[in-house]
Amino acid sequence: MVQIDSLLHAGYHNPTTRPWQVERTLTKGSLMYPIFITDEADAKIAIPSMPNQYRLGVNRLEEFIGPLVAKGLRAVMLFGVPSDSVKDPFGTAADDPNGPVVLAITELKRLYPTLLVSCDVCLCEYTSHGHCGHLNEDNTINNTASVKRLAEVAVNYAKAGADNVAPSDMMDGRIRAIKQGLHDAGLSHRVSLMAYSAKYASALYGPFRDAACSGAQFGDRSAYQLPPGSRGLGRRAIQRDMHEGADMIMVKPAMFYLDIIRDAKELAPDHPIAAYQVSGEYAMIHHSANAGVFDFKTAVLESMASLQRAGCNLIITYFTPDLLDWLEQ
Ligand code: PBG
Ligand code: ZN
Repeated sequence: MVQIDSLLHAGYHNPTTRPWQVERTLTKGSLMYPIFITDEADAKIAIPSMPNQYRLGVNRLEEFIGPLVAKGLRAVMLFGVPSDSVKDPFGTAADDPNGPVVLAITELKRLYPTLLVSCDVCLCEYTSHGHCGHLNEDNTINNTASVKRLAEVAVNYAKAGADNVAPSDMMDGRIRAIKQGLHDAGLSHRVSLMAYSAKYASALYGPFRDAACSGAQFGDRSAYQLPPGSRGLGRRAIQRDMHEGADMIMVKPAMFYLDIIRDAKELAPDHPIAAYQVSGEYAMIHHSANAGVFDFKTAVLESMASLQRAGCNLIITYFTPDLLDWLEQ
């Protein structure tokens, strides 16, 4: 005999009551689409490790982004993919006024003034050694020099018109330095700062490094990205960035780190929490669906539900074009 207080079905079997049980519903406005900008202005190059994703030249932005904006795209995040010839130990090309990111900011804001343009801020795409900051002679990270340069780059993206800057380098103290830089430049009232706070050293960045040509030439990123098994460091990094002036807090990757997303929501209940569903998560879902493991759309939507349930307000995902279509229906 089923006890009367064991009965749950009644509350969620009905198509109208079912959504009442869901804490957050997915909207187009909760999505941010990461895109790769190459310095070959006319190029549109498919990225083999990331199905349906491209490296786009500035002249190809309108045909690619226009239809998405028409479908309700509200925010993009830009990653520069410069040619090898401009890379040096200091990442000088990161904020080149004629480089891919600055040109793309200008072009996107000209075409779509209300589209939120966020820029990933890091040096690894621009350094010859492929690390995210400047190095000492013994190849350890020079944190002070790195922070100074990262703040300079962030401010220059903001000056070019970016609405949001999102440092992914994981140097200590860069949130405060960037916030101060924005303030000194008279931009702190209109440019927000999204901290990649809990960024773990993950196998899931593989396809991205291929897409952005940003792999480290020696060593790995374990001196600055967090150890996957650590919850405590994630929590400390979230609290630190919150106090240094971040406007939004991000956890990355997403699906293997749902507990950290929940921690972020609890530690920073008054901040928007972002989750970055990274390239490896995107590739995993694509390849699994193609292998018949599960239905593509069902799995993508379930992954979104899991991130929202964990507590995030904003999802950075390569599935954005698919989701815009599905949310339309
Ligand atoms: C650069 C950066 C990376 C990602 C975002 N910014 C790669 C890395 O840290 O190696 C990963 C994004 C993805 O995998 O989709 N610092
Ligand atoms: Zn980097």
